[in-house]
Amino acid sequence: MSKLNYVHFKFLPMSLRVLFTMVLLVFGTGYLMAMFQAYESHAGKDGDPMLSGKDLMIAYSGNPDGTKLETALRGPMQDMLPAEKRQVIFDWLHAGAKQEEFAAKINPILQEHCIACHNPEANPHLPDLREYAGVSKITARDEGMTIPTLVRVSHIHLFSITFIFFITGYIFSHAYVRPTWLKCLVIAIPFAMLITDVASWYLTKVWEGFAWVVIISGAFMGMAFATMWVISMWQMWFWKVPASISDNDGQIPCLHSEQ
Ligand code: HEC
Repeated sequence: MSKLNYVHFKFLPMSLRVLFTMVLLVFGTGYLMAMFQAYESHAGKDGDPMLSGKDLMIAYSGNPDGTKLETALRGPMQDMLPAEKRQVIFDWLHAGAKQEEFAAKINPILQEHCIACHNPEANPHLPDLREYAGVSKITARDEGMTIPTLVRVSHIHLFSITFIFFITGYIFSHAYVRPTWLKCLVIAIPFAMLITDVASWYLTKVWEGFAWVVIISGAFMGMAFATMWVISMWQMWFWKVPASISDNDGQIPCLHSEQ
């Protein structure tokens, strides 16, 4: 029983090899830009300029310490009031900063400790803390990406990346790589990682630790892409074809070696 063979790059028409090469060059450039863009849009959210798991947690699930009020009360405004009153404000923030509780619980503290400076007459550039309206501007919780935003980004991501890896994987399928399972694994990994990546964006909202799955998926996707890119380019233009392939007109028999 004969099975379909595949033709090694070296035995493809020059026009096809040029096509494959140009596509890989453009995809390679696009990939670098995509990584740069991911870095630019997420790095530094946690205060540290490097891209970290924390940055992605903040991007997808929001920052629980992300109100300006809490950040200030844990930072420069820390000494403006006693610790137990700070705690009252934190509890209020963590419970959703409800307006109903503002007058009774929060306003007295602010009146006593804050408005001497935080009023427009004294300091017009500081948040006005005399009334709820001014305070609410610095208590909006940072929720990260909303579900509608995630849905929009994920369908674009799923379609466009499938397209890229279908083409890259198809080009790479003309390479000679043994063992065969390894070749198949390199082709399959990006698609599996694409699914865990996108799923983890949503799951990060439930448990922040999934931010690491986003990072690991991205890393494996990048490694698979780099592997396919380098092996394809190299075998297409620089590789010396083994006799077993050239004696067979560039056909790599599937019967025994590639099932
Ligand atoms: C002695 C004057 C003074 C008092 C009292 C004071 N602040 Fe401030 N506050 C400042 C100044 C000045 C800044 C801006 C400089 C800085 O961030 O260090 C500031 C900044 C802030 C910010 C950050 C604003 C932003 O846009 O990021 C918040 C929030 C804040 N204060 C809240 C409070 C709260 C709440 C209290 C009361 C517990 C308080 N402040 C008491 C002077 C004061």
